[in-house]
Amino acid sequence: MSAAESPLELTGEQLRALVDAAMDRIAPHIDSLPQQPAADVAGGAELARSLAEPLPLRGCSLNEVFDLVFDRLVPKSFNTAGPGYLAYIPGGGIPHAAVADMIADAVNRYVGVWVAAPGLAQLESNVVRWFCEIVGYGANSAGFLTSGGSLANFSAVVAARRTLLPDDFLTGTIYVSDQVHHSVQKAAMLAGFPTEAVRVVGSDGLFRIRLDELERCIGEDRLAGRAPFLIVGSAGTTNTGAVDDLAGLADLAEHHGMWFHVDGAYGGFFLLTDRGRAAMRGIERSDSVVLDPHKGMFLPYGTGSLLVREGAALRRSHTVNADYMPPMQDEEDLVDFCQVSPELSRPFRGLAVWLPLKLLGIEPFARGLDEKLDLALWASEQLKSIDGIEIVAEPQLSIVAFRLSCPGLCSDALNDLNRDFLARINSRQRVYLTGTMLADRFTIRICVLSFRTHMDRMELCIEDIRRAVRELRR
Ligand SMILES: Cc1ncc(COP(=O)(O)O)c(C=O)c1O
Repeated sequence: MSAAESPLELTGEQLRALVDAAMDRIAPHIDSLPQQPAADVAGGAELARSLAEPLPLRGCSLNEVFDLVFDRLVPKSFNTAGPGYLAYIPGGGIPHAAVADMIADAVNRYVGVWVAAPGLAQLESNVVRWFCEIVGYGANSAGFLTSGGSLANFSAVVAARRTLLPDDFLTGTIYVSDQVHHSVQKAAMLAGFPTEAVRVVGSDGLFRIRLDELERCIGEDRLAGRAPFLIVGSAGTTNTGAVDDLAGLADLAEHHGMWFHVDGAYGGFFLLTDRGRAAMRGIERSDSVVLDPHKGMFLPYGTGSLLVREGAALRRSHTVNADYMPPMQDEEDLVDFCQVSPELSRPFRGLAVWLPLKLLGIEPFARGLDEKLDLALWASEQLKSIDGIEIVAEPQLSIVAFRLSCPGLCSDALNDLNRDFLARINSRQRVYLTGTMLADRFTIRICVLSFRTHMDRMELCIEDIRRAVRELRR
């Protein structure tokens, strides 16, 4: 078979036609994001089941496939890229990164080992170095880009375990707050720890880990023969955006000879702002930090990062050699990503971070993050002016948590009322908010982090909240 006969081998011209056809769908989709519903998954199960089909033996037309994806499937989803997405942790997905991903996939170079693409590997190394500088780590630091925060937390737990514990590590104990993201518990589980190895410490009135309780737990566990080795702090919890006392945690970890890891998956990039840097004082003293570009740098889903202050620890905990592999780099400044991370073959994630930063510089990102801090504060002030609304957590970063109070209602009834309240806010489909449980209280969160969310959408959000309150008061 010749290349011309294989539908797998596109010429440059054929590829251009394919990309142009895709762009004909993508461009109107992007332009209409603000008008699309903030979330619409009604009938999702029927839709999903209707798609099951046998493995296709022959291809179908491009239009048929694009119609299915753009007209039927994309609209049935949370509009995670739109300005009204204030749920969970948004980000938005800057299109520059989509173009970078297309380039990375089209050239399909191998960046798992340095020798296969030295220059491209260096671009990714530059990104890691920039992130280390944002955190305040020195020249010995190292890191890598992951698929997201969960995998980054996993590698952090493995690095801490292999640095501080023997091969028989089951008495090792990890300390987290009751507000920590569940990916840390999952990381401990995947790293081989039993459930009881993760000690959950209470949080204070601002949802920050209680240092006194942490210190007491560490002391008790030592006496009981356990091996406390890892403290995890949060630089922005998922529930409320609370930032732990990172300097206090650094002191404790240092005092007890423990590894101090900071989960900054949501909040870490606020270090680019004055307010964020002040809130996260002490982060530079941690042993490792997770930052998620697909949150705070507004990238599309698929890029997280782990940064480690003493890079040698990361390398020691992730290196395995094999005879069939090419020679690895001994020089400090040249990185084989397979030796500092769990993956061998991997996408060239670095380009999706590097290209937007090179094209735009860091300033628009810092400005965007500052704007999100302002919008969350503004929302909090507006909420306070609505009769019956109680602020459960003031913004420490870009999340505000609130609920409707109603004297005389028991706690279950009040939780149900707030679930109804949330459904009413979301029913206009101009914003999409989600809830969480805070000390047994169902609480609604507004998380402002999409680069597409500005004051106009926040005004709609407050308008929909006021309207829902009025409906419930009727
Ligand atoms: C604080 C925090 N840590 C970790 C994660 C997990 O990140 P990912 O979803 O990228 O795996 C999240 C996700 O929202 C998070 O908010």
